Amino acid sequence: MKIITGTREEVSKKAAQRYVELLAKKPEAVLGLATGSTPLELYAELARLCAAGEVSFARAKSYNLDEYLGLDGSHDQSYRYFMDNNLFKHIDIRPENTHVPSGFVKDDAEAAQYDAEIAAAGGVDLQLLGIGNNGHIGFNEPLTPYDSLTHIVKLTESTREANKRFFKSIDEVPTHAVTMGIHTVMQARSIILMAFGRGKAEIIKKTVQGRPEISVPASLLQLHTDVTLYLDEDAASLL
Ligand code: PGA
Repeated sequence: MKIITGTREEVSKKAAQRYVELLAKKPEAVLGLATGSTPLELYAELARLCAAGEVSFARAKSYNLDEYLGLDGSHDQSYRYFMDNNLFKHIDIRPENTHVPSGFVKDDAEAAQYDAEIAAAGGVDLQLLGIGNNGHIGFNEPLTPYDSLTHIVKLTESTREANKRFFKSIDEVPTHAVTMGIHTVMQARSIILMAFGRGKAEIIKKTVQGRPEISVPASLLQLHTDVTLYLDEDAASLL
């Protein structure tokens, strides 16, 4: 794993340059995107670069990692809503080329069609990931099988607890989500994982220095050949 550290602003700008380089070389690239607080500065920088004419997403396609089960795109806590408002509205990507898993799939077989769609689009060129305090990537919680495709997950209480800040109360936080699987993520040609803050330091240490094991989903990224971690000094402080 390659590790890049700096201030939050510096590493967000460096990560943004990966998109500039990729899209210059391959304008029709397929981007795997993520929600959460971590990528917000990256997304703001991509919007700025796009407005400045330094990057264009006009031919790109995007596939997001996950979505809450039961929330549709008009719900202000849905990940479709997050993406529209924090990125898609501010860049020149065509709305029909943006994809977020449906929060209304009935079973895993239907959810896994997302993998087929990604494969039909040529596969993800650059997958963006955040990391949960428990090492989850997407909503792949600890012990998610290595060969998992896009599937329905029951969220752990720690994840619901971490995300309740966005809802009126814990009772409103959905209990399930749909997420790309570990296999789906590992299929990407290149992967960027971003993490900020002291609260992520412990899990970043396990991700980088621990044995790759399904109890720490992000540690499995050690088995991928092209992963770069973009960390602020706090997240990198135990390395
Ligand atoms: P965060 O979430 O970016 O809001 O810290 C990351 C995650 O849970 O994957």
